[in-house]
Amino acid sequence: MLVKQSATVKVPATSANLGAGFDVLGLSLGFYDELSVEVIDGEDVAIISGEGSADLPTDGQHLVIKSLRKGLDFAGVNATGLKLNATNKIPHARGMGSSSAAIVAGIALAQALVGREKLSTLDLINLAGRLEGHPDNIAPCILGGMTIAWMDEDGHHAVRLDVHPEIIPIVSIPNFKVATQTARNLLPLRIAHDDAVFNVSRSSLMVYAMTQDPSLLFTATEDRLHQRQRADVMPATLRLIAALRREGMAAVVSGAGPTVLTLAAAGQVAAVRQIVEANSEGFETMELTVDQGGVQAS
Ligand code: HSE
Repeated sequence: MLVKQSATVKVPATSANLGAGFDVLGLSLGFYDELSVEVIDGEDVAIISGEGSADLPTDGQHLVIKSLRKGLDFAGVNATGLKLNATNKIPHARGMGSSSAAIVAGIALAQALVGREKLSTLDLINLAGRLEGHPDNIAPCILGGMTIAWMDEDGHHAVRLDVHPEIIPIVSIPNFKVATQTARNLLPLRIAHDDAVFNVSRSSLMVYAMTQDPSLLFTATEDRLHQRQRADVMPATLRLIAALRREGMAAVVSGAGPTVLTLAAAGQVAAVRQIVEANSEGFETMELTVDQGGVQAS
């Protein structure tokens, strides 16, 4: 049985990988899509404004509605028709977690409709992780802050860390898209042992740098496993990262790209903007906050 007939949700953008933490580390960003759902008599319908309004399905095939129905199925509850209203701000195919946000929004809306007894936060992580395939965007989207996510035979898991208050996430979003699958297809199936050790050291250090000592962020964001391997489909992104890093900025590919994420201190924000302006074309730079609480439903 449904405990409510309507619900709203605010769901954050996220940045996965954070350099060396491929498919593991993630950061929740203070930049949101807002959605509401209402149970209706009749067919499922999605009314979309903003990002994707020109090309997303407007029926039950919409990813938010499909995820919402998965959440209802999990809870063993049925609903007649669903009317979704989505105000989308998170850009699509840019490495800012838009598909994770859609999946999490759908399941969080289901949770609000059926109650937490039937669909817990752990269920949310597991269900959303299975739908997305890898949990590094799902986890920060649900928990907020910085997250470490992993998978085992029982499913998807994550823990949340508080980010050092002096760290400012700056995203530079290009005017071109790269599909995550295209970027994933470029990665080799096997890696050298010394590259694995390099990334394990940086990824471990990243946990300390992000929570205790941001002066280590530059070293902690070095990567050998996925960024240069993807350069062919986002050369402008890699050029911009090189320019930012030449000036000592902790810049990385956000998720599977092509957005650039720079983890800056307050005194570096103006310099980051200048470097982006001088070394790229068509990138929009936004200074964001770290989102603390992840998806919020009411
Ligand atoms: N870790 C993923 C990747 C993030 O880089 O392919 C995209 O969802």
